[in-house]
This record gives sequence, C-alpha cells and structure tokens, in this order.
Amino acid sequence: MKNLKYYLKKAAKEKWAIGQFNFSNLKTLKAIIQAAIKMKAPVILGTSEGESKSIGLGQAVSLVKSFREETKLPIFLNLDHGKSFSYIKEAIEAGYDAVHFDGSKLPLEENTEITKRIVRYAKKKNVLVEGEVGMIGTDASRLYRERFEIKEENLTNPADANKFIKETNIDSLAVSIGAFHGIEVTGLNPRLRLKRLKEIKNRAGDTFLVLHGGSGTPKEDIKKSIKLGIVKININTELRITYTNTLKKVLKEKPKEIVPYKYMPEVVRAVQKVVEKKIKLFGSASKI
Ligand code: 13P
Repeated sequence: MKNLKYYLKKAAKEKWAIGQFNFSNLKTLKAIIQAAIKMKAPVILGTSEGESKSIGLGQAVSLVKSFREETKLPIFLNLDHGKSFSYIKEAIEAGYDAVHFDGSKLPLEENTEITKRIVRYAKKKNVLVEGEVGMIGTDASRLYRERFEIKEENLTNPADANKFIKETNIDSLAVSIGAFHGIEVTGLNPRLRLKRLKEIKNRAGDTFLVLHGGSGTPKEDIKKSIKLGIVKININTELRITYTNTLKKVLKEKPKEIVPYKYMPEVVRAVQKVVEKKIKLFGSASKI
C-alpha cells in the first residue's frame, strides 16, 4: 500500500485535501471507516492525547491496522496535538504513522528545538511529523455558546513559518489562519484569512499545509483554502456533536432499550454521513 506521504503529495499536486477525522471509541472509528469505504477515500484517523489515552495507544494502532488489513484502504493514524517529546515517542513506538507536535504555546525557539528532536527521532522510524506555528484557539468549555475571539497575534506569521520549516525539516505545518477548535453559537465560524494563507504558502516550499479546526468553517472558505495549498483538514467537533446528539435522541426515543448494539447503529450512520459530506467537500472521494 502507498504511504501517507504519497497521498499528501498527490493531494498537493491535484488540489484536494485528505480529511483527518478524530475518534475516541470504536463506534466513531467504524463510522469513519465506513465513510472511507463508501467514498473510496484515503483518510487519516486522529487521536488527541486525551483520545489516545481513552482508547490506549497500542489499541488505537491495532484497531486501525485491523481495519486497514480488512479493507485494503489507505487509512493512516496520526497523534493529534502531542504536547511532549515523551508522549510523541510513545506514540511512535506504538506504531502511529504520523505525529503532530503542538508547541504553539512555547516561544518559537523552544518550539523549534523540541520539534527538531521529534523529527530526528521520527525520521528513523519513517513517521511523518506535523509542526505548528501560530496558535489555533480552543474553547471547548464555551462551545456552542459564545463568539470566539481570534487574536491577530495568534495567526501564523509567514516569516516565522519559513524559519521554523527550514530549521526543523518537518513534513507538514499546521497553520493558524482564523479557524479554531470548536463551533460558535451561530453554527458557522468566522471566515478564514485566505490572504494570510497565501503569504504562508509562498514561504513554505513543499511543506504540506494543514488546516485545524475544520468544524463549522464555511464551505466556500474550505474550498478556497484547498486551492491555496491546504492538503489536510482536521475535523472533530462536528463528529462529537453528531454522535452525542444522536445518541441522546435515540435513548430518549427508546427509553427501555439497554442493548448497545441495538441503539448504536443510528449513531454510527449519523456520524458516517457527516464524514461522507466532508470527504466530498475536500475532494478526496475516489482518490485511493
Ligand atoms: P474541530 O474540532 O474544530 O473540528 O477541530 C479539529 C482539529 O483541528 C483537531 O486537531
């Protein structure tokens, strides 16, 4: 099977993006896999540190491996927002295909140093590394309640990105261009700063650019960002909302049902549908 780098290169050349869909249990993972099968799309499965601890690093690797063998699909596993060298090392040892180090809260020099160390370690094991410059906001506690403020100084500075790429030798760069983790009360997040994306792309060479916070981002902006060089888009909150709200609805409709495999299929179908829509939007259908 072709590796992740092959698909990222192909996406860059043909101007589409691979979806990274996060999961923290088998049902969400199944929904993502079923969508990938139906759409004939390569996908990246993501687990944050929290999500990976909930499943177990080794178990996440084994589950993805088992689906990959069964479906023969290009399915890859990425550690999302790893916060330390030691945890990222554990993920690599467990068998993750790619890792993301989020040193965005650190001073650029410190972020650069740790990312460099991770790249040196990961390259020996053929694992791809995603770095991050500029801060991609999160406000899960206020999720769906208030407007989220994106600060200008948190956007990725193109000169910093250029320096970081040159010094670290990363494969991919997560950019802060106005998206954030979560969805605003309106259900639609602010527009992306596409001019900033263009400036970053001009100074990023062949490094793959990644858009985090894909949930709630206007469709038109997603399409334009792909045209401007985004090749990977991360989606989590929309899957979580769909999963939880569908489960609540089903349990309310069937208060006496206690058998999980009887009430879960509707939840899986709902999450699968969201993933299918994203695959279509990203242009990654029929790209295997
Ligand atoms: P959303 O939760 O906004 O989709 O962001 C997901 C993400 O970027 C994971 O890294």
